[in-house]
Amino acid sequence: MKISRRKALGIVGCTVVGGTMAATMGTSLAFTQKDKEFSWTPHKLDPVESALVGYNGYYYKGLGCCYGAFYGIVGIMGERYGAPYSQFPFSMMEVGKSGISEWGTICGALLGAASAYALFWGREERDPMVTELFRWYQKAVFPIFDPGEATNPKGVKGPIPTSVSGSPLCHISVSKWCYETKIEAGSKERGERCARLTADVTAKAIEIMNAKIDGKFAALYGSTDAEKTCVECHGKGKEAAYNKTKMDCTPCHSGSEHSTNKFKDHP
Ligand code: HEC
Ligand code: HEC
Repeated sequence: MKISRRKALGIVGCTVVGGTMAATMGTSLAFTQKDKEFSWTPHKLDPVESALVGYNGYYYKGLGCCYGAFYGIVGIMGERYGAPYSQFPFSMMEVGKSGISEWGTICGALLGAASAYALFWGREERDPMVTELFRWYQKAVFPIFDPGEATNPKGVKGPIPTSVSGSPLCHISVSKWCYETKIEAGSKERGERCARLTADVTAKAIEIMNAKIDGKFAALYGSTDAEKTCVECHGKGKEAAYNKTKMDCTPCHSGSEHSTNKFKDHP
């Protein structure tokens, strides 16, 4: 049977859902992208200016953290340099809100920044930038940013309590902050915390991006101690090579009071 390239691609699409077609078709399908590779040209930005944009972007139509961080980077390039940046359908970045459609997985601000990097750099160059940003995030005392008089009308004015997330995950980042401050996850204060954190991530992401553009990017954050210890045996090629993450292992595998059995005699 002779099939056209387009039809073949259609079938590849099906295999993702069904899984059965892959077996029938075998491994003879070679994929090539229809148009040549391309990416956009990055521009240096002012982290201080974009932090406030990220903060207010968070509140804009409730589009949230991922949109805020992404707009603070790519949106500002659009405002300054027009196309192609200005043609991006920015509101699609709402998907990252609350750890992707409320699932509390990756922090949306991090997803927004990493996605912005991905418009400009392929994985070889981007991964170290993402790693630097995520490792900084794990250790940061959030929130750092305070909008002062520029506080969004939907936000909360004045200083708010801080915590260290220890993790790039929305769930851990938010829930830990709520537990430590005794402020509800659904509260206005928590929203403000995440808006300010969006500002922090936007500024840090731009700092990394500017250094990259200048050819001066150097990673300051190495692997965590837990990571170093655990990959001795759980890393690639080691005796129990089951680990697939760069996250710090501590929040989930340290046997802390928060990660013990909560299904029995609890609370
Ligand atoms: C000296 C080697 C070694 C080091 C270091 C090590 N592990 Fe393991 N780990 C193992 C082996 C071997 C197993 C059993 C694997 C199997 O059952 O196939 C295991 C199992 C596990 C398991 C699953 C079973 C269980 O006991 O809970 C987890 C989770 C785990 N390790 C996490 C970690 C983390 C987190 C660290 C770092 C703090 C770490 N390991 C460090 C060797 C190691
Ligand atoms: C966000 C929480 C989280 C982080 C961070 C995390 N893990 Fe895990 N890990 C889990 C969960 C949950 C499982 C599945 C446990 C189960 O089998 O019930 C798991 C499974 C594993 C397993 C397989 C054994 C098993 O019990 O299924 C190993 C080995 C492991 N993790 C090592 C690591 C190492 C090493 C790191 C750090 C580099 C790490 N993990 C970071 C939550 C985490």
